Amino acid sequence: MKFSQSIIAVSTAVGIVTAAPLTERQAPAITDADILNYALTLEHLEDKFYREGLANFTQAQFAAAGYDATFYANIMRVSSDETAHVDFLTTALTAAGATPVAECTYAFGITDVDMFVATASVLEGVGVSAYLGAAADILSKDYLTAAGSILTVEARHSSYLRSSIKESPFAQPFDTPLTIDEVYTIAAAFITSCPASNPKLPVKAFPALTLDPSTPMPIKSGSVVTLLTPGYTLQPASGVATIYAAFISVTGPTFVAATPVSGGFSVTIPKGFYGQSYSVLTSCNETVTDDTTAAGPALIEVRQFPQYR
Ligand SMILES: *[C@@H]1O[C@H](CO)[C@@H](O)[C@H](O)[C@H]1NC(C)=O
Ligand SMILES: *[C@@H]1O[C@H](CO)[C@@H](O)[C@H](O)[C@H]1NC(C)=O
Repeated sequence: MKFSQSIIAVSTAVGIVTAAPLTERQAPAITDADILNYALTLEHLEDKFYREGLANFTQAQFAAAGYDATFYANIMRVSSDETAHVDFLTTALTAAGATPVAECTYAFGITDVDMFVATASVLEGVGVSAYLGAAADILSKDYLTAAGSILTVEARHSSYLRSSIKESPFAQPFDTPLTIDEVYTIAAAFITSCPASNPKLPVKAFPALTLDPSTPMPIKSGSVVTLLTPGYTLQPASGVATIYAAFISVTGPTFVAATPVSGGFSVTIPKGFYGQSYSVLTSCNETVTDDTTAAGPALIEVRQFPQYR
């Protein structure tokens, strides 16, 4: 990948800019229309995911994979919820005089029902973290309430799907807020292309970071896992001693050393992270910002209770 060698170097350079007066380094303010379009970008992805999955797999195929008629009916309901979210946000943006983003094309790489359900569970969890992370940037109280009413439904979808695949439905007492760029990094892995007429959003994707698929399951606190940097290598720039893996939480990140190994970095799962957890590689062990993030987030499912897989 072209941008590989200098990612950390770039991060460091940007860090220097923070010495400038506040007004000079502030990013252009993100508007409520940007945030609603960002939410709509995710809702389009989810909406298309369920419609495509329900077109790919029949109720009989769900049954053969061990998912009963109630589950199938509920998945159809989840699908229609996502369509309703798309319609709602599209209408709200149009009413506010903004151009709503249209659906993109996606490559979900789904080959069977189990993979569809597991991916649905991941996407719902990311949706929760996306709305939670964006909440503080929404200026209008009306939009905040509307976004909250979508967030709570995404959280129910997430619990139901997690429960359906025998993962803890509410693995931790606090959900994880993710930044717009962190969420977009995860979404970008599924997006092939978007209509040229879509308004440009102030979002960017960091280089992808993925859990080594050969990692023994379940992953628990203290497990050593490999986070892969597919197609690129990351090296600390001169003046930066180490690369860290930051595990994101609402109370602030937990940093662990990221040890270079073939294809990526070896990382020990810290205490206190359960369920769908997120780790980014950073050049700094004190704070996680867009300027210090080098790659990720990687999604890591961490098990706490032995009765769940
Ligand atoms: C639907 O099937 C196509 C072709 O096998 C596959 O590429 C795609 O990822 C599937 N999508 C879902 C959501 O199941
Ligand atoms: C952060 O890094 C500094 C310098 O590399 C080191 O002295 C310090 O112990 C680290 N702190 C944590 C919490 O890892």
